[in-house]
Amino acid sequence: MPPEAKSVTTEEKSPAQRDTLAIRDNRTGRDYTIPIERDAIRAMDLRQIKVHDTDFGLLSYDPAFQNTASCQSAITYIDGDAGILRYRGYPIDELAERKTYLEVAYLVIHGHLPGKSELDDWVHDITFHTMVHENVKKFIDGFNHDAHPMGILVSSLAALSTFYPDAKKVGDEGSRKLQIRRLIAKIPTLAAFAYRHSIGMPYIYPSNDLDYPSNFLSMMRTPSPTLIREKREVDEHLAHAMDILFILHADHEQNCSTATMRTVGSSQADPYVASAAAAAALYGPLHGGANEQVVRMLQEIGSKDKVPALIADVKEGKRKLMGFGHRVYKNYDPRAKIIKKTADEVFAVTGRNKLLDIALALEEVALSDDYFIKRKLYPNVDFYSGIIYQALGFPTDIFPVLFAIPRMSGWLAQWQELVMDSEQKISRPRQLYTGSPERHL
Ligand code: ACO
Repeated sequence: MPPEAKSVTTEEKSPAQRDTLAIRDNRTGRDYTIPIERDAIRAMDLRQIKVHDTDFGLLSYDPAFQNTASCQSAITYIDGDAGILRYRGYPIDELAERKTYLEVAYLVIHGHLPGKSELDDWVHDITFHTMVHENVKKFIDGFNHDAHPMGILVSSLAALSTFYPDAKKVGDEGSRKLQIRRLIAKIPTLAAFAYRHSIGMPYIYPSNDLDYPSNFLSMMRTPSPTLIREKREVDEHLAHAMDILFILHADHEQNCSTATMRTVGSSQADPYVASAAAAAALYGPLHGGANEQVVRMLQEIGSKDKVPALIADVKEGKRKLMGFGHRVYKNYDPRAKIIKKTADEVFAVTGRNKLLDIALALEEVALSDDYFIKRKLYPNVDFYSGIIYQALGFPTDIFPVLFAIPRMSGWLAQWQELVMDSEQKISRPRQLYTGSPERHL
């Protein structure tokens, strides 16, 4: 600690002095004072710390960005220790209880809840952009009959870029507004087409007279081929449950897929290819693919009496308990609580999913076991969502696609914020080189 820090207490320092970090470089004995803003220092302020004038300067090393803020954002607030999640200041449980997904998507993107006419325009615009170009069907047709729907979704999102060359004008506010509406409107259609292709059934077109979740459920439904253009009956309770799941997944600040959206967007790529990249990041089993893994794990367990054996394997490090743990939440994921409640609404219509009993038993054992308590491992959003999706009749392959649909609004809100942020530049991390020193042939 530098000598002056010993002689002056924190209370005696002026506010300007207090909001700084004093650093002594023991290699040189030099002292530095670095400002602290919002409980963070700017990594670039470390660059002045050098041993020789020709040095590059001090870097911070942070694999997987565990302690690095890459942006300032006004969209989503998470307090992982307290289990708090808010979109634009509103607690997630209030939004899930009182708002629709489209209202929440508007909120996430615009920063405020829509008034009556704003909402009418928004819902109208989203509804009337749900159709995709007929050629989209042709390239989806080209995928193998058993192609994973997430692979189809990633590819078709990227392909939309070729239909909307105007999207390249990322600096144009009008263009951004249009692409945001198109993407939120079309992702359920792409998702449903991807699913329908993967089960070898004909595509069902969007219905403009249905609300967002009902239209999606309608496009997913297994129909008789002759009914393709007719309105489907969608159970209102199931549509409501779908809407809640959409709300819970709308945004989650700088997670892996959102960070990807921002990284790709930072090169000024259009939002179709950027969201395709984000969807690809979401596909991984440690991110949006986790709910699929949870159901597979519960199916593999098969009955409650096998739970202790699985827990023993997890504790021996042989496998992970899927749907448990989170980089940010070190408490019960607030979304998991809401999902658990939504499950009852779904099971009242569909009948109880037997995997739920195994999941409840697993949760009970895990939450009382020292291994999980010590590591603060709690159920995350994916632990129960998969069980609900299964009860809704969706096969496991489609789960990450169901996550991608609502996350589109979060990706776009974050992309828009990035584009408008004058501090942002092309994303380009540094590395610590560990390879061979110069050598010659
Ligand atoms: N099962 C068993 N042990 C776990 C689990 C788990 N699910 N998650 C973490 N741990 C253990 C780790 O082995 C580690 O133990 P150690 O200290 O003895 O080495 C400790 O808990 C800390 O875990 P980390 O890996 O450091 O946590 P990290 O923040 O890197 O990982 C992640 C978070 C990827 C979500 C992890 O908990 C995990 O793999 N969970 C299972 C997959 C999952 O459910 N993903 C969905 C996340 S939510 C979402 O994306 C929407």
